[in-house]
Amino acid sequence: MLRLEKVNKYYRVGTHSLHALRDVELKVADGEFVAIMGASGSGKSTLLNILGILDDYDSGDYWLGDTLIRNLTERRSANYRNRFIGFVFQSFNLLPFKTALENVALPLYYQGVRRRKRNQIAGQYLERVGLRDWSEHTPSEMSGGQKQRVAIARALVGKPRLILADEPTGALDSETSAQIMDLLSEIHQTGITVLVVTHDAEVAARTSGSSGYATARSSTIVTAGASNPKLPAMAGPRWAQSSRCSCSGSRSWS
Ligand SMILES: Nc1ncnc2c1ncn2[C@@H]1O[C@H](COP(=O)(O)OP(=O)(O)OP(=O)(O)O)[C@@H](O)[C@H]1O
Ligand SMILES: [Mg+2]
Repeated sequence: MLRLEKVNKYYRVGTHSLHALRDVELKVADGEFVAIMGASGSGKSTLLNILGILDDYDSGDYWLGDTLIRNLTERRSANYRNRFIGFVFQSFNLLPFKTALENVALPLYYQGVRRRKRNQIAGQYLERVGLRDWSEHTPSEMSGGQKQRVAIARALVGKPRLILADEPTGALDSETSAQIMDLLSEIHQTGITVLVVTHDAEVAARTSGSSGYATARSSTIVTAGASNPKLPAMAGPRWAQSSRCSCSGSRSWS
């Protein structure tokens, strides 16, 4: 599905350069359900933004399928994003004055789908996340868990092969978090590859096992995942050698 090889990312801040990702290696196979864990500031969101082609990197290679993602025009990156990737964020990122249905239909609007058709499709996806009856409500009328369901429906509506979720349960209580992870797990079982960034070990455990971790200098990004949700949970350094999924990253001022 995707592969990062020695990816480096710097942020230029005034006269300084912040080394946000250092030689990150990551391999995710089709159909995996992967958690990326790491300390605050270790570069998880930076990594996800690169994977989602929302941001560039400075060196190394990022392969999405057979395509080298580098220096793409805005038009081509938007095209890959629309075709392959759905995003879910901690803060939902819904448009406040649009209804749930309109929020879910938005990606279809950008694809040029006509209103009647896009509302029909958006309705199906709201149904899938259990919110058909909430179609006409705006985000301010919904709970955090409901808003995240709307955001997940919006992420799915373009039929992505990959879902990237940045702390999708970060703003939710533990019961609601478990429900959102159930939903992501169901999505994974339909064959979609799912990557979740999380601080929460319980959330990571829901990806059913550790398939790799690595430490590099000042920080660690741990990935946990499984291509088969029924695999027994496995943990520990033994899996660090797994070729399935390994990821390392660090940051330092330079
Ligand atoms: N746009 C930016 N400009 C400059 N520095 C940035 C920018 N975005 C992130 N950084 C820095 O890069 C480092 C990695 O940030 P990032 O947001 O990727 O971390 P994170 O692992 O997602 O942290 P958290 O768990 O707190 O969300 C941090 O030191 C951050 O301050
Ligand atoms: Mg982050």
